[in-house]
Parts: sequence; C-alpha cells; structure tokens
Amino acid sequence: MSVIFSGIQPSGELTLGNYLGALRNFLDYQDTDECYYCVVNQHAITVPQDPKELFTNTRRLAALYLAAGLDPKRVTLFVQSEVPEHVRLGWIMTTISCVGELERMTQYKDKSQKRGDSIPAGLLTYPPLMAADILLYQTNYVPVGEDQKQHLELTRDLAQRFNRVYGEVFTIPEIKLSVGGARVMSLQEPTKKMSKSDDNQMATIRLLDDEETILKKLKRAQTDSENSVHYDKENKPGISNLMGIYAAITKDSYETIEQRYVGQGYGTFKKDVAELLIDTLRPLQERYNELIDSPELDHILDEGAAKAREKASKTYRDVELAMGLHRK
Ligand code: TYM
Repeated sequence: MSVIFSGIQPSGELTLGNYLGALRNFLDYQDTDECYYCVVNQHAITVPQDPKELFTNTRRLAALYLAAGLDPKRVTLFVQSEVPEHVRLGWIMTTISCVGELERMTQYKDKSQKRGDSIPAGLLTYPPLMAADILLYQTNYVPVGEDQKQHLELTRDLAQRFNRVYGEVFTIPEIKLSVGGARVMSLQEPTKKMSKSDDNQMATIRLLDDEETILKKLKRAQTDSENSVHYDKENKPGISNLMGIYAAITKDSYETIEQRYVGQGYGTFKKDVAELLIDTLRPLQERYNELIDSPELDHILDEGAAKAREKASKTYRDVELAMGLHRK
C-alpha cells in the first residue's frame, strides 16, 4: 500500500484545470492506498486574502473534494491550518532551503513579478511549506498537474538533503501527473494555463458553472480560422486545448476525435465539448449543493484533522529528535 498526498489552495473557485489535472485523479487511489487530501489554506495566504472569503472558499473546496467522489471513510480529508505540524515542519524545511533555489521557482518569478516592490516573503518560502505538507505523511506519490513539477523536484531535493545530514527520516516522494488534463489552458489565451485567479471570467470553466455559462464560454473560446478539428499544439493551441479537454474526459485518442469530426466545423465540436462538460459536472454540482451547508461536512473535517495529526505528529517528532530539537 502506498501513501498518497495532495493539496489544493482555497484561493478562488476551482477550475476545470484543477479538476482534470488533480482532483479527478485523487479518486484513483482511494480503494487501494492510504490517502491524505488537504485544503491548503496556509498556502493561500502567501498573497493577501479577505478573511471571510478565505473561510468560505475553504469550506467550498472541502465540499468539492467530497462532491467529486472522495469517500471520507477511505481517505483523510482535512484543512491544513488544523494540523499545526505543517507550519512547524515548513519552518524547518525553510532553514534547509537556499534563497537561490527558491528564487529559481518559476511560479515565484511569475507571482512576484505582479507584485512590484512589495513581494510577500511567503511567496518565496512557499515551496518548503509544500515540501513539509508532503513529507509529514511519508508520502510515496503526489498526484498534481504539470505546473507543480518544479515544486515536487525541490521537495525531493530537500528530503534527500535532510536525510543526508540528519539520518533517514523522510520517504522520497514521486510525482504522478494525470494522463490527459495535466495542463488545461485558458480558453481565451490558450498558450497560458487555465488559472483560478484569472480575472477574465471567459477564460476559465469553474466547476460550479451552470449549463448556460459553460455553453457560452465554450462558444467564445479562442480558436483559429481553419475550422478543422485537428491537433497541433504549436500552431493551433486553442482547438488543441479543447481537444485535450475532450480527450481527458472521453479517453479517446486525438486521431479518433479528428476522424469523428472530419468535415464538421468548430461550432459542432465546441457544442459537444460543452455538453460533455455539463454531463460530467452535473452530478458533482448536485452533491455539492447537498453538502455545502450540512453539519456532516464539519464532522468529516474534524475527523480528518485528528487522523492527519496522528501521522504528522509522529514524523514531526522524528524530525525534532534527529535535529536535536527535542529534549527526550
Ligand atoms: P493549486 O491550488 O494551484 O492547484 C491545485 C491542483 O490543480 C492543478 N492545476 C492544473 N492542472 C492542469 N491544468 C491546469 N490549468 C491547472 N491548474 C492547476 C495543480 O497542478 C494542482 O495539482 N502548490 C499547490 C498546492 C499544494 C500542494 C501541496 C499540492 C500545496 N501543498 C502538496 C500537492 C502536494 C498549488 O498551488 O496548487
């Protein structure tokens, strides 16, 4: 049995990218493995958050995890701030990180560029906290989208560095990229990834979008003037992205899709992608609506935090013992 850990930030409404790149794949492990899935709210505060919104988004994200099909009897679902070992180990991971390697993280470069002169220090020290999330559970596999690859490589480096200096405490985790859907692109600028924080509402499909909105967003999605459903990521990023979404849901190959749509224009294809999405998201939305205000959700999160803490505190104690931070 392997240990699986992953997390999503409650920093806005989840997108189709989060679903196809991560959340949907979390389900693959729940029958066979020991799974920990976390709402990483302490990562979200690396940029300013409105407290009320953060609180609501945290609850919403927990409900979405369950609505997507995670079973709280088989997985441990919890909120990061309720397991204090995350920030405690996060600090230790920061102390063994070098400023240079943190500055090289592309996500740091992107996010800090937008902040001018006042770059929050947390943006820089975010990856050691992410490493702590993963290492606390002696994780074997981390299912994430492609944009997290560099952070995962750093996590492995930090774990190896720690083990070399202080003795074998951590399991070295491996990344698990989703097959299809590892990088869903913006519907408006298909060379950029679809992102929760995109201000352009037309660029992202949100998991809670209604049918009409999904149809509208697909209809307006950027394509090219060729009007032929053909995969070519370089020269036709828009239609290729839509084909990627279609393939991630149906598991069809690009050749199969191309053959199915020979002689049909983008209009028909876009409508079919929209309908696939509507059918995929409808059951998730129904379950979400049942859960969001139910006391069941609080109960699940309470139990999840207690279970997570049991495992995390054991690893954390081993870390302190190894480093001479523990008296006994
Ligand atoms: P976050 O919250 O930005 O995204 C959550 C997950 O969704 C994936 N993802 C995508 N996949 C495909 N296409 C996209 N357009 C797309 N956008 C997002 C991300 O790769 C991720 O798997 N640092 C993490 C959160 C985190 C974490 C962790 C993840 C904190 N600690 C420990 C794994 C393990 C993040 O910001 O993800």
